[in-house]
Amino acid sequence: MSKTIEKSGNRAFRKWGSILVFSGLIPLLFAFGPWPDTPTGPEPGDDISRKVDSVLALMTLEEKIGQMTLYTTDWGSTGPTIRPGYTDDIRSGRCGVLFNSHTAAFTRELQRVAMEESRLKIPLLFGFDVIHGYKTMFPIPLGEAASWDMKAIERSAEVAAAEAAAAGLQWTFAPMVDITRDPRWGRVMEGPGEDTYLAAQMARAFVKGFQGESFENADRVLACVKHFAAYGAPIGGRDYNTVDMSERMFREVYLPPYQAGVEAGAWTVMASFNEIDGVPATGNSWLLMDILRGEWNFPGFVVTDYTGINELVEHGIVANRKEAGELAVLAGVDMDMQSAAYQEYLKKSVEEGKVPEARIDEAVRRILRTKFMLGLFDDPYKYSDVAREQRVLLSAEHQEASRDVARKSIVLLRNEGVLPLAKSIKSLAVIGPLADDQANLIGAWSGAGEGRHCVSLLTGIRNKLGTGTDILYAKGCAIEGGDQSGFSEALDAAQKADAVILAIGEHKDMTGEATSQVQIRLRGQQEELARQLVATGKPVAVVLMNGRPLVIPWLAENSPALLECWWLGTQAGNAIADVLFGDYNPSGKLPITFPRHEGQIPIYYSHKNTGRPFNPESKWTTKYTDIPNSPQFPFGYGLSYTSFRYGKPQVDKTVFRKGQAVKVSVTVENTGHRAGEEVVQLYVRDLAGSVTRPVKELKGFQKIALKPGERREVQFTLTENDLAFYTRNMQWAAEPGTFDLMVGGSSDDVQAVRVTMIE
Ligand code: NOJ
Repeated sequence: MSKTIEKSGNRAFRKWGSILVFSGLIPLLFAFGPWPDTPTGPEPGDDISRKVDSVLALMTLEEKIGQMTLYTTDWGSTGPTIRPGYTDDIRSGRCGVLFNSHTAAFTRELQRVAMEESRLKIPLLFGFDVIHGYKTMFPIPLGEAASWDMKAIERSAEVAAAEAAAAGLQWTFAPMVDITRDPRWGRVMEGPGEDTYLAAQMARAFVKGFQGESFENADRVLACVKHFAAYGAPIGGRDYNTVDMSERMFREVYLPPYQAGVEAGAWTVMASFNEIDGVPATGNSWLLMDILRGEWNFPGFVVTDYTGINELVEHGIVANRKEAGELAVLAGVDMDMQSAAYQEYLKKSVEEGKVPEARIDEAVRRILRTKFMLGLFDDPYKYSDVAREQRVLLSAEHQEASRDVARKSIVLLRNEGVLPLAKSIKSLAVIGPLADDQANLIGAWSGAGEGRHCVSLLTGIRNKLGTGTDILYAKGCAIEGGDQSGFSEALDAAQKADAVILAIGEHKDMTGEATSQVQIRLRGQQEELARQLVATGKPVAVVLMNGRPLVIPWLAENSPALLECWWLGTQAGNAIADVLFGDYNPSGKLPITFPRHEGQIPIYYSHKNTGRPFNPESKWTTKYTDIPNSPQFPFGYGLSYTSFRYGKPQVDKTVFRKGQAVKVSVTVENTGHRAGEEVVQLYVRDLAGSVTRPVKELKGFQKIALKPGERREVQFTLTENDLAFYTRNMQWAAEPGTFDLMVGGSSDDVQAVRVTMIE
């Protein structure tokens, strides 16, 4: 595909293009409409390539490298600011792309510099980390993953894109689809969790939501699949640490979500900081050329992560930044984020014959093509419209979308008959360091989100209950520290109330980049406060707000009710109140395992059986002697206010030929008294393969809504591909043999049916 893109235009056209550019007519023509037909006319379907080539033909080597150079702008106290040197770089054509510049007014001004003060007047491209919302914040991605609702996730990305685009941006550095099985890693909040299949679905939903159908839509942005690859598997869960795993594991578990994003059309990919088998991703041609371009036909451009090229020196794979630039560009990195290595050294590398200019041209073509596709040459200011920005940001429609996905992301972990609470409750104590908090609700990677726009839990409860309930608020303690002086007020409020809501968890900056921890427990006095409140005998519902799975054995076994609420975004308080008072029946399921103890990490449902699977009767089997193997809460787990009964799964054939599909069906019945949604999950186990296989792998899920007493047959179709894996000789293939197909409402609660595949 890249070949098609780089097909050069005919000579007459290029000449005509040069004349237009040199006479300064390009901006004029672009401002009034598409590039004109040449006397010979463009070949159908090759329009952009011709335009790209006509521009490329006019560029100096320095200007070309400028298009490959991405710089940040800064966050001033009153908005984004730019370093003077960077403005000069835009003028001189030495920087063609910016990130962190946002707001329609600011991007318009920078665009003006490019369009009015630079020689070639090539429009700038603006990127930003719009991870889970721009101004209207949505749940952190790990929270969204818990919704298992791809339509809702797509909608959240669509809203985020609409707001970002209205603020002058054309590119988001998302989705982050790094699988992680290590909650010590702080960036777990930003990703899809531990499962490959769920993550791949999310990658597609995010890319569709961000990019929409056409790049010309000024209310969508380019997606960037990151961090390519396996950034979520640093040794010890320590951010930026070495990644080292078998190629089989890499391809089976870690790569598919990135591939899904690319197949869904993500136009950009970000190389990760980490190394893979000794070669940092930023300089890894196996990854960026062989896999990404060769195997997946990726047509867009590759950007580094922040200063990724310079870090090649620290990795110890090159001696200096010049060599780092050479390694990166030859490995397939098209754009340098913030290293300035391309800007400073690439020209010299080309002059010395170390880097062919054709490689520079290839990268620049991809970047110029992007700008053409977005329509920036036609109207460089089309995203920077202040009136539109005011209309779009934080609109009522966006708040509705945020509330919808927020409540779908909540997971009910435990409920001893406490929830839902009656709205007629006379008095309610709302306690905890996060009960009246807005600032944390936006979570890490919060774009341009602001805590002041968030609905706190206390406000959400007040909105829900009006004046009929006596609401007693007490903070109780801080998130961290040893101070218990607020306990007596909190206990007093609890004694006076009919029920207690306790909001505890993490500070938003305890997760995100560079926030790995070895202890992932509640800090400070929060658990002690919970213990004392539960000891009052009042019905206590604990609302957890956090960005990672926490180790919470006491709460898991003793809290009367426990809700995992992540960081839910702008509408958090309203969404949690919807669940607390039964206006929404919780339907979230965990996208990642919650360990009992940090010592179990990495812990994940899709493990291997080993030669000595755990047997409580035998000492000599795989286990710890001081703690069970099982997690506190398994992947796929989540309760509802109603109950679901699963029938035995049925298959349309128990023996089938390779290549044939198998239909699995199961009847699910709502046996409770409330309408509810259930995530019906399908897992597969290959009992004997040419290499060992996991005890379970998710291969399908459906979220269904059932009224009380309603029963529904849910069907899945498993294809040969769903049973395939990297065989002994690294072929992706399904092997004849016996499989267990398992269906249920959690990874640890399934029923199996056995089938056999024959040649
Ligand atoms: C570093 C992060 O790893 C990456 O995810 C992000 O997009 C860039 N910084 C830019 O902010």
